[in-house]
Amino acid sequence: MTSTRDFDRYLRTRHAEIDVALEAALPIPPDCPPLIAEAMRYSLFAGGKRLRPILTLAAAEAVVESGHTGARSRDAGMALAMTGACAVELIHTYSLVHDDLPAMDDDDLRRGRPTAHVVYGEGVAILAGDAMLTHAFVVLARPQSDEPPGFDQRRLRAITCVAEAAGAGGMVGGQVLDLAATGTLPAGDDPHRRAGCEDAALRERHERKTGALIGAAAVAGAILAGGHDTAVAAVDRYATHLGLAFQIVDDILDVEGTAGDLGKTTGKDVGACKPTYPSVHGLDRSRALAAEAVAAAHEVLAIAGLGGRLAEIADWVVSRTS
Ligand code: IPE
Ligand code: IPE
Ligand code: MG
Ligand code: MG
Ligand code: MG
Repeated sequence: MTSTRDFDRYLRTRHAEIDVALEAALPIPPDCPPLIAEAMRYSLFAGGKRLRPILTLAAAEAVVESGHTGARSRDAGMALAMTGACAVELIHTYSLVHDDLPAMDDDDLRRGRPTAHVVYGEGVAILAGDAMLTHAFVVLARPQSDEPPGFDQRRLRAITCVAEAAGAGGMVGGQVLDLAATGTLPAGDDPHRRAGCEDAALRERHERKTGALIGAAAVAGAILAGGHDTAVAAVDRYATHLGLAFQIVDDILDVEGTAGDLGKTTGKDVGACKPTYPSVHGLDRSRALAAEAVAAAHEVLAIAGLGGRLAEIADWVVSRTS
């Protein structure tokens, strides 16, 4: 059993390591125009929690520590997973920049700063998002120094997993369902284009828009560290529960949180009449559902014998206030 202070120190350490790796991985002039380099950094280094890349490193650490790989050491496993960590944070940050655009959620505050389109204009904000998404795959695909034999296979699996999670079947698909849920798309007569507030539709929307990338973040870490198939599958199940809990809490914080803590405007979902966990189930039931999802994540870890920090990360996801 480790203390809260120890876990806070762990989060701070990983956060700092990820920031160093991200800075080193980003394009700089003269390889790109100064404006796009600046706009990418503006949103990336604005103070996010780094949940997804921390999860990538924690999953890598967990599969190595629990003996579910043939890997040499915990640090070697995490070093191999760092490209995955940078890639998921780049994709996540791109998704935030696009999510905040006037054509989507129309937000003017993110990570405690004016949103990218407010500062750089919509055109540059869209392009900064495009550049972050594209660069994520440059980072993932680029060969690393000191790769073990057969690493190409792992890299390809990780690229496929992250790409599927980011695309039409994952986050982008979920964002489309989200737009439909706010009634901003013409519903027509096609039931597939109508907003859904029944439980299955709400869950599907959350699993795609948020759960998919959280799942891929963890799975990519397990794959890159050389996790055996059974361990990768367990990490996937764990992260599926975690992803749902995360978005339920995001919905709750939109009602109960403060802009000061969250660094983004609250009350947006009610304002947009968007069906969310609190609006459909109420706050108490939403809290219970998030707690159930986290309990299910813990159970997966216990059954699979996966240790490390994954259990504490699950607790952090439900207890967070920012
Ligand atoms: C916010 O994600 C967007 C959602 C998917 C709900 P985070 O709450 O992880 O945002 P940052 O990275 O800490 O800014
Ligand atoms: C965003 O969901 C999900 C993404 C894929 C970016 P939200 O729209 O609820 O995220 P916030 O509340 O603006 O951070
Ligand atoms: Mg949104
Ligand atoms: Mg939003
Ligand atoms: Mg939200």
